[in-house]
Amino acid sequence: MGVPLIVDTDPGVDDAYALAVALSDPAVDVLAVSTVFGNVDADTTTGNAGRVLGLLDRADVPVGRGASRPLVHPTPESAVAVHGADGLGGRAGDFGEPGAVAVGRALDVMAAALEASAEPVTIAAIGPLTNVALLLATRPDLAERIRRVVVMGGAVSVSGNVTPVAEFNLHCDPEAARRVLVEEDVPITLVPLDLTHRCTVDEAWLDRLAVTGPIARVLTGTRDTYLHHYRQALGVSAIPLHDAVAVLEAVAPGALRTSPLPLEIDTSTGAGRGAVLADRRRTRPDPPAHRPVDVALDADVDAVRAALLDRLSRAGSAAR
Ligand code: BDR
Ligand code: CA
Repeated sequence: MGVPLIVDTDPGVDDAYALAVALSDPAVDVLAVSTVFGNVDADTTTGNAGRVLGLLDRADVPVGRGASRPLVHPTPESAVAVHGADGLGGRAGDFGEPGAVAVGRALDVMAAALEASAEPVTIAAIGPLTNVALLLATRPDLAERIRRVVVMGGAVSVSGNVTPVAEFNLHCDPEAARRVLVEEDVPITLVPLDLTHRCTVDEAWLDRLAVTGPIARVLTGTRDTYLHHYRQALGVSAIPLHDAVAVLEAVAPGALRTSPLPLEIDTSTGAGRGAVLADRRRTRPDPPAHRPVDVALDADVDAVRAALLDRLSRAGSAAR
């Protein structure tokens, strides 16, 4: 039995890489995949999760279909300009038909996995936090079975990517994000844009990965729309694999360097909606207004790129 993990995801190009990172590690036991709206609608993210699992020959992993909208304010948001209309860079067809189909609702599949695990479970939350907020709200008894939640999201001291201050996952459902990051007390590691934008991988890295095998070729085949977007957004010919960086930390704790910071999430409907407010003052009220969250603001970025390449190469060369 390996390290037990649930991946809550909205595939998504970088989500696909993230799932491959988790599933390539024999020391990790992926108990379930739960899906959520986000980069594309929930039907499409659920189909894509099944496609990625099928590609990786892991149709045995239970998939639960999750929230199709945010908790409070429906938003028209999606990220098709980044991930393509099919969520996989226009290349969903290359993944084949979904090898795994949703066996139930996300909350049921997550709860069943938590209940059945002999060890506390890590949740890698790499989409909007709606499912995780609902799980904690409806099954508080399961909180003690969660080792930690590693969340990809937020922009702490850099610009947001959907508004000047807000990052996509948190902006999709700020009320859910506030519930998870501020109100609950399960251990959290937050992996924000501050770090994921520093861990971009360039085309040479993608080319090195692509030649490692058929799975890697399909994964890297999703690059065009994503690269095009990030050339404009970041001014570099490289892509941030946000969610893969977060999953790396989930499966290899300590891969990223964290600082404990009390957080607040802006749930107003004004210009700050979805923003993270991190209390970085040297002298803070003691005790702080909210329990500190471990925020990953630093890492050996070359080591992160190398670890991702190594793990994805292993996934890439696996026999189908
Ligand atoms: C996050 O938003 C999504 O578009 C990505 O999959 C990632 O989870 C980055 O802001
Ligand atoms: Ca995602």
